[in-house]
Amino acid sequence: MNRDTDFLVIGSGLAALSYALQVADVGRVIIVTKSSIDNANTRYAQGGIAAVVGGKEEQMESHIEDTMVCGSQQSDRDVVEMVVRGATNAIFNLSEWGVRFDMAECGEEYKLAREGGHSEHRILHHKDLTGFEIEHRLVEQVRKHPNIEVLEHHFAVDLLTQHHLGKLVKRSLPGTECYGAYVLDIVNKRVFTLRAKRTIVATGGIGNVYHTTTNPSIATGDGVAMVHRAKGHIVDMEFVQFHPTALYNPGERPSFLISEAVRGFGAVLRTQRGEEFMEKYHPMGSLAPRDVVARSIDNELKISGEEYVYLDITHKPAKEIIAHFPNIYEKCLTVGIDITKDMIPVQPAAHYLCGGVWVDKNSRSSIEQLYAIGEVARTGLHGANRLASNSLLEAVVFASAAARHSVIGLDSEVLPEIPDWDFRGTTNTEEMVLITQSIKEMQQFMSYYVGIVRSNIRLERALQRLQIIYEETEHLYRRNTISVPLCELRNMVEVSYLVIKQAMAQKHSIGLHYSIDLQ
Ligand code: FAD
Ligand code: SIN
Repeated sequence: MNRDTDFLVIGSGLAALSYALQVADVGRVIIVTKSSIDNANTRYAQGGIAAVVGGKEEQMESHIEDTMVCGSQQSDRDVVEMVVRGATNAIFNLSEWGVRFDMAECGEEYKLAREGGHSEHRILHHKDLTGFEIEHRLVEQVRKHPNIEVLEHHFAVDLLTQHHLGKLVKRSLPGTECYGAYVLDIVNKRVFTLRAKRTIVATGGIGNVYHTTTNPSIATGDGVAMVHRAKGHIVDMEFVQFHPTALYNPGERPSFLISEAVRGFGAVLRTQRGEEFMEKYHPMGSLAPRDVVARSIDNELKISGEEYVYLDITHKPAKEIIAHFPNIYEKCLTVGIDITKDMIPVQPAAHYLCGGVWVDKNSRSSIEQLYAIGEVARTGLHGANRLASNSLLEAVVFASAAARHSVIGLDSEVLPEIPDWDFRGTTNTEEMVLITQSIKEMQQFMSYYVGIVRSNIRLERALQRLQIIYEETEHLYRRNTISVPLCELRNMVEVSYLVIKQAMAQKHSIGLHYSIDLQ
């Protein structure tokens, strides 16, 4: 059965849930999410949310400056101002929804942490489980709201535009409109049309395009791929952030993150011979911006031929380590590492997409009635490299902007009739191994050729190999009954293509795009 709504929200991470809570008093909201509601990158966030609360001018200026420096001066300063100055409201909203942040001993001020690239302590957190606390509290609020319906295990396949009415839609032409999405009900194996006056893409990141990633399996770039197919603008895809310190534990996917807050607390990086090495790469040492630290580790590993370096926090009092990082402490114990006594083996892992769906300051994409918020969106905040803990803040600030803008003119919207999803010619179910093997191949060459260090020849090779997988995947897609793995593969191929092509078009080594062939 087809459905209609005022607001269709695709995703159920922080961006999606905080948006839904802000528009639900104005119209009906349907949240479509491909797994269980709390399966999102948000839930895994550890370090916290960078926020100068209470409008202290000097401290806000410093947050703005750190964001600009970290982004290699490629961020849009207006957007940086908007986000940094939006922090007080963002934290107010989160607190109203029940999110608890750790408080200092006096009980009246937030306990602030520090991470790479930050010149001050300004990160609000809930132990090392900030994302879990946020996701859990927002889910509680959403479940209570009578105007919000959540469709778990529903996969958004494609966005509806004039293309589905038989009209020509081109990226170079303005006037493309979005009317909702085709949605796959995973349990009942059927695709239905979900028409909406406003569609909000909040599908998160793309980590699974790479072999080693901190992202859960849902992060397959579906939103970027859908918007690209619908002829929206996608930019800055070459800026894929690798987190320097994922736990080295071969076979574990996703890789478990060792928060940068651990370095903010005093941990240092060492080679396997125990030598500190970050001082020779950057004056901030182990707390340098992420692109620098990841590249430095990559370089050390290339020199030594080893697979990991060490992160060492053993010089700090055990009691304090356990109190600050209970989750990391417990996790490491399960693999035989007592972080109060042992150094932690770490390696870089794909972590965050700085580029994505182009949006303006109201979160509007280049397609009318289509908004993008959270990690899927490229707002201009991050420039060439994201400052740690700025993404949760960005998600809340831009969700609020989208909420304010998207309620305008809602009543006058009339939706066109959309043809049902066409199943014809798609009856086969080929062996699953064809899909999983393609995914593995793609993850391998994306990591080797389009990872932390790139070159012209590596990008060329990646593109050639992707072309083969693209053709095989399109063939499978035309012949097979629709399924989540097949759709995700198709989306990851599209996302990989965008990363490679936009990396090829970048003429400088800047921020997260580092090529040995470019200055
Ligand atoms: P997500 O939280 O990823 O949610 C995306 C949602 O979209 C999911 O519900 C997913 O199931 C759904 N979805 C995707 N595709 C489809 C589809 N086709 N159909 C239906 N649903 C779909 N940032 C910080 O600022 N501070 C931190 O401390 C921090 N720590 C991090 C630690 C880890 C391990 C990771 C992985 C990230 C961390 N980040 C951190 C980054 C931050 O968590 C994310 O950028 C942010 O949570 C993204 O939120 P989101 O709402 O945009 O997307
Ligand atoms: C971390 O805790 O190191 C992750 C912070 C982030 O990705 O912003």
